[in-house]
Amino acid sequence: MIRARGLGKTFPAKGGGVQAVKSFDLDVERGELVAFLGPNGAGKSTTLRLLTTLLPATSGEATVVGCDIRRDPAGVRRSIGYIGQGDSAGHSQRVRDELLSQGAFYGLSRRDTLARADELIESLDLGALAHRQVQALSGGQKRRLDIALGLIHRPELLFLDEPSTGLDPQSRANLWQHIVDLRNRYGTTIFLTTHYLDEADQLAERVMVMDHGTVIADDTATALKDSLAGDLITLSFETATDAAAAASHIGGTAVGTRVTLTTHRGEEAVPHLIRSLDDARIPLVGVTHRQPTLDDVFLALTGRSLREEGQAHANNTENNNENNNENNNENNTEEAAA
Ligand SMILES: Nc1ncnc2c1ncn2[C@@H]1O[C@H](COP(=O)(O)OP(=O)(O)OP(=O)(O)O)[C@@H](O)[C@H]1O
Ligand SMILES: [Mg+2]
Repeated sequence: MIRARGLGKTFPAKGGGVQAVKSFDLDVERGELVAFLGPNGAGKSTTLRLLTTLLPATSGEATVVGCDIRRDPAGVRRSIGYIGQGDSAGHSQRVRDELLSQGAFYGLSRRDTLARADELIESLDLGALAHRQVQALSGGQKRRLDIALGLIHRPELLFLDEPSTGLDPQSRANLWQHIVDLRNRYGTTIFLTTHYLDEADQLAERVMVMDHGTVIADDTATALKDSLAGDLITLSFETATDAAAAASHIGGTAVGTRVTLTTHRGEEAVPHLIRSLDDARIPLVGVTHRQPTLDDVFLALTGRSLREEGQAHANNTENNNENNNENNNENNTEEAAA
């Protein structure tokens, strides 16, 4: 479905340009559901725009559904659906008419468009909304309509850029259910970006992580967590001095009154650690042990937390490029949702 080699994008800018996507290779097979993760500004949307021919690549080559992105962009566009980041503009057309216009735009026959619109209205649960104006829909309803619009011409491959950002947890779950159902029903290959690590973890069988324009991990969520993070053990102490003493005795990183360390089979390591601290007469206050998350994977790969990164970006007013306002709003909504 997707084959990219050395694909890259540099935006011209004063002082040398912004290397948004560094040369990268990608293979996506038919039927895969790939979640593309990364902090703000990592290059996710740019990658999607390259693969959907909305932006010309600076380097490399790619074929998407068998069509070359440079030589046959029209072929690529005919075979894919693309739903961009952010809300679709509200307007006064009704939901069903919007779908019919989209079908006409793609050159479907009237009869085919009608059948397809009704099929999508049913499968995306838009029946009760079919005669409502688009501008009157809620955020989650609009995103479902966006997906229906992206699917009207039966694309084999669907690109979704942050389909669930800004939705409440229930609407997010509902939207994901629809995405998974569509995949099961039509066999559509789906390549989507998300900032919700839990979604990627539970629903996509393949997770790709991008940072600073480079793909730094690409595997199943389970394999990423198994191979990179190990179980996480946090020990708490009364004083920072105790924590520092403990860290030099048992290993791990002391931050304030806590020591964190990662290990395989955490449940078996905990009793050993307690005994060892007891022998060294370092008084322990508490212990927690948990399975790693995708955020821990990102932390292990980059030394930064994907969650904290979002907040840091929202606070960063120095780098005022045209994307920042949009990005900051997303962060705020995410924080609110979290
Ligand atoms: N049209 C443009 N002109 C100049 N720089 C751009 C342009 N579009 C994106 N960039 C820069 O390219 C980098 C990658 O941006 P991109 O939008 O791909 O990130 P992203 O991973 O989608 O981030 P987010 O999670 O915030 O949506 C950023 O540094 C961004 O400022
Ligand atoms: Mg983006």
